[in-house]
Amino acid sequence: MRILISAALALCLIAACGGPAETTPAAEPNQAAPVTAAPATTARAAAPGEPSLEFASLPAPYNTASYAAGNRTWKLCQSCHLTAEGAGSLVGPNLHGLFGRQVASAPGFDYSPALKAETFAWTPDLLDEWLANPRTFVPGNRMSFSGVRKPEDRLAVIAYLMVQTGYAAPEDAPAE
Ligand code: HEC
Repeated sequence: MRILISAALALCLIAACGGPAETTPAAEPNQAAPVTAAPATTARAAAPGEPSLEFASLPAPYNTASYAAGNRTWKLCQSCHLTAEGAGSLVGPNLHGLFGRQVASAPGFDYSPALKAETFAWTPDLLDEWLANPRTFVPGNRMSFSGVRKPEDRLAVIAYLMVQTGYAAPEDAPAE
């Protein structure tokens, strides 16, 4: 660090930039506490309990979810679901544009009669219910998955899916 700073200052002097190098204040904190100071060049990762930067633009409470938990929980789904537009379906339907999408409407996917009989459009809240217990949410559906037990993991995987599936907040979101 010291060498780098000296080199930078030397370069600065050679290039005759700015004011006198001795008074550059930015170098002080790093020299005073080189071990504990966070490296200024690394992107700040969210500390536990702090909102993940990846979810910062999502509506509450999804902006408080953990990206790491979302990514981890999604691994439970990805053997059956793709999220990229036009990527097709696996064992389960493609989830692109899921939020606001009519249930059982992924093109070309052969849904169960139970899911086809439903008429709702997917919201984050409904997805939370579905994932809490896929078997009871729509009895007779064919998603053979036991669910995501922890509420914080559901919150996280829903936030993750919002980012992955191109979630756009409704223009005039009615208060629910
Ligand atoms: C073993 C495969 C499998 C796993 C694992 C799985 N799913 Fe599914 N999923 C399916 C199938 C099959 C369907 C269609 C069910 C039907 O037609 O009744 C489905 C349907 C869905 C639907 C409804 C889509 C629509 O178009 O209405 C959503 C949303 C969904 N899954 C999300 C998830 C999420 C999120 C996870 C992980 C937490 C997950 N699934 C894990 C197989 C799976």
